[in-house]
Amino acid sequence: MVTDTPANSTLHDGARAAAYAPPTTRDGWQQFVATPPLQPHPAADEDWSLEERLDYHSRFVVLTTPAMERISLSLRRLMLLNRRQQGTARRGLIVSGPPTTGKTTTLLEMGRTFELAEQRRHPGRTDRLPVVFLAVPPASTPKMLVSEFARFLGISIAARMNQAQITDAVCHLLCLLETKLVLVDDVHLLDTRTRSGAETSDQMKHLGERIPATFVYAGVDVDVDVDVEASPLLT
Ligand SMILES: Nc1ncnc2c1ncn2[C@@H]1O[C@H](COP(=O)(O)OP(=O)(O)O)[C@@H](O)[C@H]1O
Ligand SMILES: [Mg+2]
Repeated sequence: MVTDTPANSTLHDGARAAAYAPPTTRDGWQQFVATPPLQPHPAADEDWSLEERLDYHSRFVVLTTPAMERISLSLRRLMLLNRRQQGTARRGLIVSGPPTTGKTTTLLEMGRTFELAEQRRHPGRTDRLPVVFLAVPPASTPKMLVSEFARFLGISIAARMNQAQITDAVCHLLCLLETKLVLVDDVHLLDTRTRSGAETSDQMKHLGERIPATFVYAGVDVDVDVDVEASPLLT
């Protein structure tokens, strides 16, 4: 039987907050990783308030689909392969498909699984950041892209800092924090036919070479004009 102790209530509050904090910041990501799946109480449990019931039903259970299993296996192989590779020799992974087919969900789940495994391997180490998760902003410029990394890491960017300085700060910190996996969502927003899109794509490649981590990208591939798999990012 499930009893509702004060500790349990705190967990519920934390779980509810995590449902709304975006995982594209370090704190939001940590919350996402640390939040266990919600467990339903027995329907007759009177301590389970209406609010908590609604909360439970508004959060869907994530199923492990065959595609997610395949992608996870590819990622594990790739990370083994990348371990000893430098710069351009490291390979990335792309998760592509039509909208709403679970690309973001797959990225988040893979990130969580990897981070939890790293926490088990290095218990008590709080000075590490195994996973970074971010989404490409719409109409991104190279500086906006690297600023997304900085925002995740909580690096405050002074107005006078230029793109190279922010990039240096981001790469330096990610090396220190031993980041092993960088998840980049919505790469279809990098429209390489526009100048800023092409430059941002180049910036992404540059980051991929400087940060000793495996990069996983996710993006829509149905629009023939901005086909993720044909984009120069991956060639
Ligand atoms: N494996 C899964 N199990 C349960 N629900 C899923 C799963 N994958 C995706 N969904 C649900 O489908 C919807 C779209 O998923 P999302 O990952 O945002 O797709 P995409 O990023 O491809 O557009 C979301 O509401 C998400 O909760
Ligand atoms: Mg998505």
